[in-house]
Order: sequence, then C-alpha cells, then structure tokens
Amino acid sequence: MNILLLGSGGREHALAWKLAQSPSCTKLYAAPGNPGIAEEAELVPLDATDHGAVIACGRANDIGLVVIGPEAPLVDGLSDSLRAAGVPVFGPSQAAAQLEGSKGFTKDLCERAGIPTAGYVRTASLGEATAALDRFAAPFVLKADGLAAGKGVVIAETRAEAEAALADMFGGAFGEAGAEVVIEEFMAGEEASFFALTDGTSIIPFGSAQDHKRVGDGDTGPNTGGMGAYSPAPILTDELQAQVMREIIEPTVRTMAAEGNPYSGVLYAGLMLTGDGPKLIEYNCRFGDPECQVLMSRLEGDLVEIMLACAEGRLSGVEAHFSPQAALTVVMAAKGYPGTPEKGGAIELGDSEAQGAKVFHAGTSLKDGQLVANGGRVLNVTALGRNVTDAQVAAYAAVDAISFPSGFCRRDIGWREVERERQN
Ligand code: AMP
Ligand code: GLY
Repeated sequence: MNILLLGSGGREHALAWKLAQSPSCTKLYAAPGNPGIAEEAELVPLDATDHGAVIACGRANDIGLVVIGPEAPLVDGLSDSLRAAGVPVFGPSQAAAQLEGSKGFTKDLCERAGIPTAGYVRTASLGEATAALDRFAAPFVLKADGLAAGKGVVIAETRAEAEAALADMFGGAFGEAGAEVVIEEFMAGEEASFFALTDGTSIIPFGSAQDHKRVGDGDTGPNTGGMGAYSPAPILTDELQAQVMREIIEPTVRTMAAEGNPYSGVLYAGLMLTGDGPKLIEYNCRFGDPECQVLMSRLEGDLVEIMLACAEGRLSGVEAHFSPQAALTVVMAAKGYPGTPEKGGAIELGDSEAQGAKVFHAGTSLKDGQLVANGGRVLNVTALGRNVTDAQVAAYAAVDAISFPSGFCRRDIGWREVERERQN
C-alpha cells in the first residue's frame, strides 16, 4: 500500500522511519518532509491547508492511508475532507480534534463525564476573567482557549502578574486563540504523558513518556516544545495506567462517541500525578514531539497495520507491543531557541549512529549538499538502553559525535528517572 505522511518535524521523521519498515508499505510519500524524512520517503510539495491538493495527491499516487502528524491540519478538518473523498486517514475529525483545539471544550467534556482535572472557569472578556481570578488562589493558571503552538499557557505567581497576562491575552497576544481564556486551579505534582489509540470504540494503551519542557538544565528558563523525552515513564505504573484508562481515557472516548463526535487516532493525555491520583492537564490530538521519537524507537511490529486498523474502525483485537528497553531522546536546538533560533548553522552527523543510536531530523535542510539548521529544534538524538540511565549514556555519546557549533542541548534529559534508578 502507498502511504502519505504529512508534517516536517522530528515526530514525522520517527513516524516515517517506522512506517517505512512495515512490510505493508509499498511506497511512502511525505509532505513537506525534511532531509531525514527524505531518506525514508519521496517528498512531495503539498500545502496541507489546500485540502483539494492533498486529495488529488492521494488519488494520483494511489494512497491507501494518510497519516497526519501535526495538530493544525487536524483542527482545520483535513481528515474530514480526505474521508469524504474516500481516503483512509489516521487522525481525528475536526469535531474530535477540538479536544486539543479548544481547552474550554475539553474542560466542559471532563465536567460532563466526571473526568478528574483541575477546576476551571471559561471567560470571554478581560472584565469577566479579572473578576474570575477571585475564585482562585496563586499561582494562577491562564490558558488561551485555542491552538497557540504550545505557548498559550501562563502560570502567574501573583494576582498582578495574572491581571497583566490576561490583558495581554485579551489584547491579542495569541491572536484568535486568546479570544477566550480558561482559568484553572493549579495542580501540584509530577507530569507524565500517556498515549492511547482508538477507532472511536475500541481503545488500546500506546505507551507512556516524560518530556522536559524548560529550555535549561535543571528545568530552568522558558518553556519550549520539549527538549527531550524518555519512554516508558516508570512513574506511570501499570496500576496508574489502568486508572488513567478507566477514569480519563475511556470516559472521554465514550462521551465523544455518545455525543456524535467519535474520536479516531492517537489521544495524547498530559497528566498531573497529584496526591489525589492522576488528573488530566490537557489532551493533544496527535503524537507528542519529541515523545513520538521514543515511542517509535520502542514499538515492535507493524505501525501501518495498527494505524490502518485505527483508521478503518477495526482496532478491536489489535495489540501494540513495546520493547521493555528504555528509549531516550535529546533535542539539539539552534542557539536562540525558544526565541529566535540561529538559522543556517552547519551540522556534521559524523558517526553518531555507529553505536545504534538514531538521529531524527526536526528543523534541518540541505544547502548546497551541506546539512544545516533550519528551525528551533533541529535534531532528536535517540538511543535505547537497559534502563533510562543506560539510554541516557548512549544518547549523549551520540550527541557528542555530532558537530553543530551553532546548536545546544540540555545535558540532563532523563534526570528524574536517573535519580530514581540511582536510589533503587
Ligand atoms: P498545557 O499546554 O495545557 O499542557 O500546559 C503547559 C504546561 O503548563 C503543562 O505542561 C504544565 O506544566 C503546566 N500546567 C498546565 N495546567 C496546569 C495546572 N492546572 N496546574 C499546574 N500546572 C499546569
Ligand atoms: N512535547 C509536547 C508536545 O508535543 O505537545
């Protein structure tokens, strides 16, 4: 079968690498892709906002499955257009993608379905939001309702900071995404990510991971899209995962279906492990980046079969198996990230993959045959190990084999788990 993958980041390189390994994959196309993805797929120039062009590409290349990597085309309804044209898609409908596209939608759904999450208020004006702060205590959690490229959440330590942030949000700092703001109760605890696949009815757990959102070592500095991740997240024990399935994932999938918006694809739950048990922070309607890189490194078996079963509503009876090994990925970013990253810096991968590590490309491009940086997060250097400590050693050995003078990375990815492993 021919497959079309949409996206251009490290997440999509990991998906391309795994899709291309499938015996069911005759030919993989990717749009727009990147130089790493080009090693696995034929790149086609396609604008994902042009639904007609994507459908035409699907027909012209006899595509049997479209895999949509990022959230924007999902929230924009691309999967609906493709399904209407008879093309199987891995990814939720526009209505179902509201689980990521509108924080207020998700909070209301949690309330209707009794799903554990932070208390909240939805507000639609600065006056309403400022008055609603009375109902919360510091630190204040303020969220632009819509998609804001991971930047729409402000945690304000004081009331004055919260009021200033609300003024920014309603003043257009996040564009349309901030036309509504959700104010939430602050939850204390450790964060972990849990993934499930569903076809709208059947659900299978699809692994756990922990991300590192801050740019600097020791979790300092501004938030980023993620500076590294590892999988599994042992803190999400089998017992906790069963609880997350029962209390969070299953009621979500059931309620979405009952209300006429069946969810199909990957459901990525950001969780806070609180003293009162796991609570939902947010949903994403796609794989995490860089969490996908560590999940794909551990996934055993045929990703095409699993995704197709999901797309065609036959997930019942399908199982996903992951290696018991730990996978860890270190993000190498261009200096300046998450502000303005330096573009064009030369990269030499050397023999970084010699010991079995895998270097996924995120923001790279080729300039006159030279690999250069072309984005904030540039490379995802990924390795497996017996545990997180070993995977960390292997990943940093690969990082050290790469020459990327205009780049940087955190040196402590995996620290929480390495600490726990040292104590055991
Ligand atoms: P989100 O984009 O909703 O995942 O939020 C970004 C980050 O803000 C999360 O990864 C958490 O670290 C933090 N956060 C979001 N909501 C809360 C909350 N209610 N309590 C504490 N921290 C939160
Ligand atoms: N790494 C966080 C995300 O993909 O949303």
